[in-house]
Amino acid sequence: MILDQFPRHPLTFGPSPLQHLKRLTQHLGGAQVWAKREDVSSGLAFGGNKTRKLEYIVPDVLASGADTIVSIGGYQSNHTRQVAAVAAHLGLKARLVQEKWVPWDEPVNDKVGNILLSRMMGADSRLDDAGFDIGIRDSWKQALQDVEDAGGTPYPIPAGASEHRLGGLGFANWAFEVAEQEQQFGVFFDTIVVCTVTGSTHAGMIAGFAALEELTGVRRRVIGIDASATLQKTRDQVARIARNTAELIELGRDLRDDEIQVLEGWAGELYGLPVESTLDAMALGAQLEAMITDPVYEGKSLAGLIDLVQSGDIPKDSTVLYAHLGGQPAINAYHSLWS
Ligand SMILES: Cc1ncc(COP(=O)(O)O)c(C=O)c1O
Repeated sequence: MILDQFPRHPLTFGPSPLQHLKRLTQHLGGAQVWAKREDVSSGLAFGGNKTRKLEYIVPDVLASGADTIVSIGGYQSNHTRQVAAVAAHLGLKARLVQEKWVPWDEPVNDKVGNILLSRMMGADSRLDDAGFDIGIRDSWKQALQDVEDAGGTPYPIPAGASEHRLGGLGFANWAFEVAEQEQQFGVFFDTIVVCTVTGSTHAGMIAGFAALEELTGVRRRVIGIDASATLQKTRDQVARIARNTAELIELGRDLRDDEIQVLEGWAGELYGLPVESTLDAMALGAQLEAMITDPVYEGKSLAGLIDLVQSGDIPKDSTVLYAHLGGQPAINAYHSLWS
């Protein structure tokens, strides 16, 4: 398989666990709902989707001779926490730009959860007042320059590791991992639901499942649930990264437009701010399955899944896989939601 030709540095325990969410399934009264748990698949500071992406980027980091990984995200970025974890694990430094992506006024927002973990792991985490944007930022370019000026050798990883040549490979491989687990469990997922913001998780899946379709002839629906609230930017970014990744893994055909589906309706007005459907979904996941989701990402994609199953958009005879991408440390910064 072409994906085997890309070096992969193991950062996870192995394939992420599959779990049949029986009580949630029963409650929804529709499709069978399963989860694939990126949130419990690594020992590096709670892991998550970026850890899987970074498995394909670390060989390039090591080959570059860099001593400092430079990355960017919000105050409560899961991505920068995973970069800090991987840097600590490799014995490298991490320089993190943490922007004020969310106008959330709890005073602990820039102190607990993800940012606390990053600082504990020794990252040089610096706050910046800029708001949410998934694009390439001047503050991040400046941080790269600062590292160089100080005599260091930086390695650039943009927000979410998405605008990186290799950023889609982790989740392209996820598709093949799913196919293997389907054999083991005797199950077939016709529908995948995944949260999308900076895009390379969803985009990687699109490329991976397209490659699988070429081998097996079997089509599935890969539904991205937008949590960025900047829909067009995320749609464009998903499409671009999916096409780049498809080319990288030599898919040999164009992606069809119907393979790139980013649905809106659950992000609310602004990235990072939960809405009623987010809180309902978080409560349902927690109270029926003890499956903890966060108000920024996974609570929103779970809300999407719940609505799509309950409305029959995902039909009753479907078996749907919810990609749980992590993100729980951020709930500490949102404690007032349940206080
Ligand atoms: C927990 C969690 N879920 C979903 C996402 C979205 O993934 P992506 O940025 O690859 O679209 C992220 C990161 O942005 C995340 O940290």
